[in-house]
Amino acid sequence: MVDENKKEIDQVTGVETTGHSWDGLKELNNPLPRWWLWIFYITIIWSIGYWVVYPAWPTLSGNTEGKLKYSQYEALKTSQAEMVQRQAAYIDQFERATLDEILDDEELYAFANAGGRAAFKDNCATCHGTGAAGSKGYPNLNDDDWLWGGTVYDIHQTLQYGIRANNDDTRVSIMLGFGEDGLLTKEEIQEVVKYVRDISGQEFEGSTEKGSVIFKQNCTACHGDNGKGKHEFGAPNLTDAIWLYGGDVESLYETIYYGRAGMMPAWDGRLDDNMIKQLAIYVHQLGGGEESGENEETDFDALGEKASGQQAE
Ligand code: HEC
Ligand code: HEC
Repeated sequence: MVDENKKEIDQVTGVETTGHSWDGLKELNNPLPRWWLWIFYITIIWSIGYWVVYPAWPTLSGNTEGKLKYSQYEALKTSQAEMVQRQAAYIDQFERATLDEILDDEELYAFANAGGRAAFKDNCATCHGTGAAGSKGYPNLNDDDWLWGGTVYDIHQTLQYGIRANNDDTRVSIMLGFGEDGLLTKEEIQEVVKYVRDISGQEFEGSTEKGSVIFKQNCTACHGDNGKGKHEFGAPNLTDAIWLYGGDVESLYETIYYGRAGMMPAWDGRLDDNMIKQLAIYVHQLGGGEESGENEETDFDALGEKASGQQAE
């Protein structure tokens, strides 16, 4: 308690002291600034209002609910319900749209890409990498170098039925094991390796006429006369510097001696149709999507899509 008698006026400031004194230092009795006090009172009034309107105090069975009956759970539920409703509208439209129509519709396209991106992380990234850049044996999906074709319909078919997967509609073909199967001798394989390094524009150890002849006789059926590959056989372009299994001498020798048969699971049945469509769109826009109609081998029947007249040719 402050003793009234001890109260005194400070000489220098002319302000009354509180009478407290520490080692001879005395405390001035300056009142709190008015603005500060008012804000302080307002915050108290505000908090009382808050208790009344919003859930605030814990009770034995939960908490006071407040006049507004606001709850974050409820807010979340409502916003989720709204989202599901909005999506349902899209999904309906999406289901009916062909892949081309989706590519042409800004909203459906955005919807497909968002869904596809998420589904890619969940289902595809293990093999193709999160950035879809692939690795040895797993193709990079960002470039425009396609084994089986890069139109959105090609990609859709690849996803639906897989590659060398366990169903009747899957994409099949093999890169033969020319050494293992006794089709070519080791020397012949060495010659054709040099030839492949030559046409891919790499440094090579003098490719010969012999290598070129071996290539024409054994390889062009699948890889094309000019080595640029054929989508219908999933045979890669050998003239670019993009390699699935490697373009160095050892890798090429191994590929041609033992053959290769990359496998990609079919997603039909594992993912629903809409998801496969979304993934096809997503992969198509990753960087290397080709225009529909460029590839005449596209199997529209298999897609169950209503192909427009121009594509049906
Ligand atoms: C188990 C590993 C694996 C998974 C999982 C996988 N892939 Fe593949 N994928 C492959 C392999 C291997 C190939 C190359 C097959 C070949 O050599 O022809 C491939 C090829 C492809 C191709 C064809 C590329 C081209 O150049 O024509 C596409 C498109 C593709 N995958 C997309 C996907 C998508 C989308 C998913 C997820 C739904 C997925 N993959 C999941 C292994 C996988
Ligand atoms: C029956 C069709 C067929 C024939 C014939 C064929 N290939 Fe292939 N080749 C393929 C397929 C399909 C692949 C891709 C395999 C995969 O994706 O797993 C391939 C892949 C390759 C690759 C790997 C390319 C890369 O990006 O890593 C090389 C190299 C290759 N072939 C060279 C040859 C040579 C040389 C010959 C002739 C001696 C030949 N192929 C004959 C179908 C064929």
